[in-house]
Amino acid sequence: MKPTKQEQQSLIELANEARRRAYAPYSNYRVGAALRTKSGRIFTGVNVENAAYPTSICAERTAVFKAISEGENDFEIIVVVTDNGGSPCGSCRQVLAEFGLETLVVLADGSGKVTLETTVGDLLPEAFQPKHLGKP
Ligand code: THU
Repeated sequence: MKPTKQEQQSLIELANEARRRAYAPYSNYRVGAALRTKSGRIFTGVNVENAAYPTSICAERTAVFKAISEGENDFEIIVVVTDNGGSPCGSCRQVLAEFGLETLVVLADGSGKVTLETTVGDLLPEAFQPKHLGKP
């Protein structure tokens, strides 16, 4: 079910609050995500950087992996908050696409202003998906 504007705003607030817990000493680019499942559970995520740069993880994937590891894989919406409304990277788009192209994606800046409302499918056209490997 599509979240109401009020629900969307509260997800933005949750993601923005989570953003304070980002571990981003190298880029200083703090990202917070709030992922809501169709069952109504909410998983937040932050980017976690590392001195060995490539081992860092984005906020979106942190949220997705938290959800999956708690047995939830039916996603409704992911809200991502950055300072300037930055957009999910290619790896995060691919990970989100694994669990459905219909998932809503809302981006907001640090003031809570929505900068983009879209879907995973629109962010990753012609996504490589489980179906390509014969999986439902
Ligand atoms: N980052 C995210 O957390 N999500 C994205 O989709 C874009 C980039 C993080 C990774 C890194 O910690 C910092 O932002 C700068 O690239």
